[in-house]
Amino acid sequence: MAEQNDKSAQRESALHEGRLPKPERPRLITIANQKGGVGKTTSSVNLAAGLAEAGLKVLVIDIDPQGNASTALGVEHRAGTTSTYELLIGDATADEAMQKSPDFDSLYCIPATIDLAGAEIELVSLVRREYRLYDAVRGEFLDKHQFDYVLIDCPPSLGLLTINAMTLVDEVIIPIQCEYYALEGVGQLLNNISMIRQYLNTDLHISAILLTMYDGRTNLAEQVAEEVRGHFGDVVIKTLIPRSVRISEAPGFGQTVLQYDPSSRGAQSYRDAARELAQRGDYLPGPESGPIGISPAAAHDTER
Ligand SMILES: Nc1ncnc2c1ncn2[C@@H]1O[C@H](COP(=O)(O)OP(=O)(O)O)[C@@H](O)[C@H]1O
Ligand SMILES: [Mg+2]
Repeated sequence: MAEQNDKSAQRESALHEGRLPKPERPRLITIANQKGGVGKTTSSVNLAAGLAEAGLKVLVIDIDPQGNASTALGVEHRAGTTSTYELLIGDATADEAMQKSPDFDSLYCIPATIDLAGAEIELVSLVRREYRLYDAVRGEFLDKHQFDYVLIDCPPSLGLLTINAMTLVDEVIIPIQCEYYALEGVGQLLNNISMIRQYLNTDLHISAILLTMYDGRTNLAEQVAEEVRGHFGDVVIKTLIPRSVRISEAPGFGQTVLQYDPSSRGAQSYRDAARELAQRGDYLPGPESGPIGISPAAAHDTER
């Protein structure tokens, strides 16, 4: 109890300074949804920036061949740059591939280049093909750098690249766009998570769902938000990410929105979401939790 008081006192004082509590051990998180354009990349880089801005040490691993997270973080990722491709193939170490963000002192990125586009096929014939990222990152590299958060930006598919992300991490954050067909494909994603949990990584679970591109002027956005909360309950982050032009402009300048327009509503929403994620900690599956690692109420009826 004393320890808990101690901890909450620490949290209080961290909050006071605009800083966020350090997790007890590094939180490894994949941002996944096999649907494209739902805000995976935007959420990866801006949550990372929100955490880094609050004093935490953060690594973003880009495993989407499009390299959009690398672009948004302003790191080099032309073809031939040492990247997640070399890491997965075994031609480079994580240290060799990692770059520091030009904008935040404690933010790092392992970029993706277009070379990654063929990796899905190349990986098939390699040993431990589902654990290539795990083998390159867990252990020595993670121990040495003591990151507070590692966020992985996934491609919009459920292939070997995404599987490599999900065997490395404990947590999955699913961004859901507040639009028509918001839950389309989510059922399949949940099935895949439950399979990976069963066969490849028993620690994997959904720790947050983030509602993105929320347009408060439409009934539809509100309905989608309600529906998602109905399905997933408390695992849904309370902060809504609004649809915002500033958020979509920022990557064009090689910046996160927190850097591009720090006082914008979009920047503030990602700061708030990062804060929520850090303060509430991991959403650990209880004894009641179903095959996807969240409460049974959440697991039903998401098939479309
Ligand atoms: N909250 C938002 N408001 C406005 N545009 C957004 C927002 N979030 C993402 N976008 C834009 O929507 C597009 C898809 O987002 P992105 O993060 O790249 O999705 P994904 O990585 O899931 O494919 C991008 O052009 C991005 O700039
Ligand atoms: Mg993306």
